[in-house]
Amino acid sequence: MNNCSGRDYHDATRHSWLSVRRSPNRLDWDNQPLSMKFYPERYPRTRLDKKYPAHAFLYHIGGITAKKSYPGVEYYLRTNPSAGALYPNELYFQARGVVGFDDGIYHFEVGSSSAVLLHPLQKGEGLEPFLNIRHPMRGLLFFISSPYYRSAWKYRTRSYRYCLLDAGHLLGAIETGSYLYDHAYRVAYDLDLEKLNHFFGFGREEFFLSAAIVAVPERSSEVTVPNIRLTQADPTGIFEPDPAIERAYLETMPLHRCRKEPRFPMFSFQKEAWEETILKRRSMREFSSRPITKGQFEAIMESIGRPVPSDCDEPLKIYAVLNRVEGMPVGICENGQMVRFGDFSEKAGYLCLEQRLGSESAVTFFFLSDGCNYRALYQKAGIIGHRIYLVSGYLGLGCSGIGAYYDDEVAEFLQETRMVLYAMAVGV
Ligand SMILES: Cc1cc2nc3c(=O)[nH]c(=O)nc-3n(C[C@H](O)[C@H](O)[C@H](O)COP(=O)(O)O)c2cc1C
Repeated sequence: MNNCSGRDYHDATRHSWLSVRRSPNRLDWDNQPLSMKFYPERYPRTRLDKKYPAHAFLYHIGGITAKKSYPGVEYYLRTNPSAGALYPNELYFQARGVVGFDDGIYHFEVGSSSAVLLHPLQKGEGLEPFLNIRHPMRGLLFFISSPYYRSAWKYRTRSYRYCLLDAGHLLGAIETGSYLYDHAYRVAYDLDLEKLNHFFGFGREEFFLSAAIVAVPERSSEVTVPNIRLTQADPTGIFEPDPAIERAYLETMPLHRCRKEPRFPMFSFQKEAWEETILKRRSMREFSSRPITKGQFEAIMESIGRPVPSDCDEPLKIYAVLNRVEGMPVGICENGQMVRFGDFSEKAGYLCLEQRLGSESAVTFFFLSDGCNYRALYQKAGIIGHRIYLVSGYLGLGCSGIGAYYDDEVAEFLQETRMVLYAMAVGV
């Protein structure tokens, strides 16, 4: 029996030339959900202070780095990108033996740049059992959730894809921060999601997607989950359930035949410049149609090829449409090999829902997968996408994630039957 998950949901949320014209997204601006979650004031807060490396690490993962104002709206942009700047994810963590935090379970309150203490850890308590770990882990355990209506408000049922991609970008930000602070990290998808959602007091409005372990085992007795249920704080203000998303979540909760990836990626970026890249990362809105160099393209490809340590590694197939790379022909490159020659720049832009980003870029990437575990493979696409953002920025190039593309036409163009997960444009 095929236990693979997500394919039905994926097929049901494909964009086509006709579908985006038949049901254009009309937005109800008066009823937009909140993009930040705040717990009540009675909870103790620790304002992040960059003199503590753990505080700076947290800020680097998802802190506010810019503000944009338009008539009637203000956007706060963060270190992590997000489809439509809707940020349909929240970050929680457990700190144990970490300088700057008392041992406890926290919510990262992006809006106030604080960590909110939801529960101080008592002796023998911890969230490790949710990760199938019996012993205490010294360091940080991150848990990423999704109050999905923030994105569903705009992107409707397709938004579960963006919740997963954006969660992947947060995991990618944990990876980039781990590199900066010399921490080992690994991603965990094999969580007791049902119990974790219950422990945090979530209803149907928010659910956990993944975790990241930036911690080392402590040699002491076993820990158990605190015998309490946390009180939920409303993450969106306004909420309309989407049964198709909730079904997709339920279906993609169990994992099947996971392959572990124990290898850790080795990078060699200059740390100061890497930190500056994290803090200055932005999405490119328009490219100049100038080329990038072969060396820059190869540096990006090299970073993509490095492993992502996790308990459920899924294969991604990444095609690069080369529009203008000095020293390389135009055409389609797969895994470092040219598989087709020709100028496909206009086609690449068309495939990205006619966005110029896709045609004026130097390279437009398409990520595909035929993996079995949808929740894991989609978040991996976000992690790799985050690497592309960061490495491009580090090389002085611009980049943008592209979640909107004509699914079937991309697959047809690439002569593929795999699911199309994500597109990205890199250029100058
Ligand atoms: C999953 C994902 C999909 C995105 N899709 C698009 C897209 O189709 N078109 C676009 O112009 N930008 C896209 N973006 C970029 C976002 O609009 C951008 O991240 C957001 O506005 C925040 O701005 P910043 O990245 O500069 O911080 C996407 C970003 C992500 C993470």
